[in-house]
Amino acid sequence: MQIRAAVLEQFGAPLAIRTVDLDEPRAGEVLVRLVACGVCHTDLYTASGADPSGYAPTVLGHEGAGVVEKIGDGVTSLAVGDHVVTLFSPQCRECIHCLSDRTNLCLAIREQQNKGYLPDGTTRLSLDGEPVRHFMGTSTFAEYTVMPEIALAKINPEAPLEGAALFACGLSTGLGAAMNTAKVAAGSTCVVFGAGMVGLGAVIGCRLQGADRIICVDLSEDRLTLATQHGATETIVGGPDTVERILEETGGFGADYTFEATGNVGVMRQAVESARMGWGLCTVAGVAGKGETLDIVPRYLITGRRVCGSSFGGVKGRDQVPELVKLALDGQLDVAPFVSHTLTLDEVNRGFELMEAQDGIRSVIQFT
Ligand SMILES: NC(=O)c1ccc[n+]([C@@H]2O[C@H](COP(=O)([O-])OP(=O)(O)OC[C@H]3O[C@@H](n4cnc5c(N)ncnc54)[C@H](O)[C@@H]3O)[C@@H](O)[C@H]2O)c1
Ligand SMILES: [Zn+2]
Ligand SMILES: [Zn+2]
Repeated sequence: MQIRAAVLEQFGAPLAIRTVDLDEPRAGEVLVRLVACGVCHTDLYTASGADPSGYAPTVLGHEGAGVVEKIGDGVTSLAVGDHVVTLFSPQCRECIHCLSDRTNLCLAIREQQNKGYLPDGTTRLSLDGEPVRHFMGTSTFAEYTVMPEIALAKINPEAPLEGAALFACGLSTGLGAAMNTAKVAAGSTCVVFGAGMVGLGAVIGCRLQGADRIICVDLSEDRLTLATQHGATETIVGGPDTVERILEETGGFGADYTFEATGNVGVMRQAVESARMGWGLCTVAGVAGKGETLDIVPRYLITGRRVCGSSFGGVKGRDQVPELVKLALDGQLDVAPFVSHTLTLDEVNRGFELMEAQDGIRSVIQFT
């Protein structure tokens, strides 16, 4: 079939809206009609050419939600009409990582996905007869996509798909960092650095875990106000003295849990140093720039602080994204305020501009 899609043809150039060919789903694959798709930093990072593992031409987009239109041979867990959230982090339920409760990093299709191919090493997308790769295995800046069954989470059809798209990346990452990776204990003190989609998700995750204090740090007063509305009990405008201020606020010790959701390695260091001696756990969710490293004075570790990273919030997508969506349906978290702008596919580059200007939390493309 022919579909409209936003194609990254050349790094550093705006995405081009093209009519591309999309082949039928093969065995184990599913055709999804996209209804909504968030615009995220990772798309821009790749589009800019800064990502050393980036490839082109490719159809970008990975924060998708839509409806199953057709299933390939052997697909058993999904049926036509199901509502789904796309997963750049799949869950095969069979590999050694899927069978462990210690990680969500499914190994099943990793190698091909990293190169932009579907699991059989080919693409379903093409433009003028030339293959176009599947970005993050999702390629959701498009009217339709073909994806592996193991990379789609079936959600309650009552959930509005525009909000559900946020669970495909940033929101689940933040929620999961607090709920899965750190497993915040009730009554604890938490600090969240960054109040973008990921940091706000972490604030909500800490609240849902029953944290007593949630201190949110950001540079933007507007975003801190939003953090307060979603559960932050205190806010701090970030700066060079942030660690000192957190220590002052916590009896000189620091927080039980800290979360980094800025991607700035200087802030990551602050997050480590704001964690409490003895047992403080720092969870890093931000993605640093190419070649950047995190400086930690080893004494912080010897005196009992721990540091861990979190990809997609440790969320096992097919099992847990539906549960997170259910939390929203049950009224435990309010997703609508995070959809700041709705755009058409043709306006995708405007989505990047809004993101660079930090205008709103998420721009979401709506497909009609
Ligand atoms: N681990 C994962 O699986 C995963 C998934 C999605 C996004 N990410 C990464 O998470 C990070 C956050 O993503 P986002 O969509 O929320 O981004 P965002 O840009 O919307 O939010 C980042 C926030 O950090 C704040 N900030 C910047 N410098 C700061 C400082 N010095 N002190 C305090 N706050 C500061 C900004 O004001 C902004 O509000 C990015 O690095 C992104 O690439 C990781
Ligand atoms: Zn993303
Ligand atoms: Zn797996």
